[in-house]
Amino acid sequence: MLPFDVYPLWDIEPVRGEGCYLYDKNGVRYLDFYGGHAVISVGHTHPRYVQRITEQLGRLGFYSNAVQNPLQKQLAERLGVASGYPHFSLFLCNSGAEANENAIKLASLDTNKKKVLAFGKAFHGRTSGAVAATDNPRIAAPFNVTPNVEFAPLSDAEAVEKKLKTGEFCAVIIEGIQGVGGILMPGDAFLQRLRALCSRYGVRLILDEIQSGYGRSGKFFAHQWAGIEPDLITTAKGMGNGFPVGGVLISPAFKAVHSMLGSTFGGNHLACAAALAVLEVFEEERILDNVAAMGELLMRELRQVPGIKELRGRGLMVGMEMEKPMSELRSRLLFEHKIFTGAAGAHVIRLLPPLCIGEQQAGEFMSALKAAMNH
Ligand SMILES: Cc1ncc(COP(=O)(O)O)c(C=O)c1O
Repeated sequence: MLPFDVYPLWDIEPVRGEGCYLYDKNGVRYLDFYGGHAVISVGHTHPRYVQRITEQLGRLGFYSNAVQNPLQKQLAERLGVASGYPHFSLFLCNSGAEANENAIKLASLDTNKKKVLAFGKAFHGRTSGAVAATDNPRIAAPFNVTPNVEFAPLSDAEAVEKKLKTGEFCAVIIEGIQGVGGILMPGDAFLQRLRALCSRYGVRLILDEIQSGYGRSGKFFAHQWAGIEPDLITTAKGMGNGFPVGGVLISPAFKAVHSMLGSTFGGNHLACAAALAVLEVFEEERILDNVAAMGELLMRELRQVPGIKELRGRGLMVGMEMEKPMSELRSRLLFEHKIFTGAAGAHVIRLLPPLCIGEQQAGEFMSALKAAMNH
């Protein structure tokens, strides 16, 4: 048997990671400005992370959600404080798509309505509800196409109000910053309008912070720049620094009923150990401050580079929209300068480095970018 061939692969085989670097099987070092798709938060093989997971595995790797697991309580408490949502509760699952499925389900159960409003260029995952709310018919199957999801243009409050007025919607789902769509900002004023519209029409507001959350924007969640409080917040990626763990932060307005949600693996001992280690490092190494400082430094330097049509994003979630198609530049960065970056469409390079980069790594990236562009 072979792996099902769904991923176009680079001919690079990383065998080791350390901090912001990867090493391939030939010992070649790569600077990671992609974070394995915005996943690496505290850095590859962070010693505390490795120690916490290893110790937990030596004690107990998994048991079902039918027994007491104090690690879940520790994680919920710590995440509540770190994120500024101590009054919310936490449902743990295993991936971003799963977090969104559960959030949609909660909103639908709570309002007894079926429809979800999503936005143009949104990406919410590949499982049935999440992919239905994703604005990309190429990754959906006929089974996923449903009249229960409608779309509005991003940041168009009038279009949103027209839909919500119908009284048919249980939820609006929006990314804190659109990632796969090309680092597109909804705008703080729009998020504030959206919050007000959802409250006015009794619709639950779901903030998908799977890519833009966990410190990536310089605040714990990107929507916190707008000073709003959603009803449901979904998270994954940076939460486990590579260990598969996702979660839904749930406002106190929702009442938990036994069996309304569930997961075999969600919140298992190893996942909790990984997520706790991440939050401990966030605190000890003041990761949010680092993201804000490094994000500012990168933006300041990038603004000086000719050939970039538009710079978007916040913190260490940066979109460089190039004047020319960027695939050659991105290949040069990877194969000549040994730097991983992300992409969105034909023109946008996405920078999603580990949240622990320092001036050294920012400098390495800037020198390589300038050299690659002057090629
Ligand atoms: C904003 C957003 N939501 C959801 C997902 C899906 O997450 P996962 O691949 O863990 O299911 C992603 C993944 O890229 C994402 O960027």
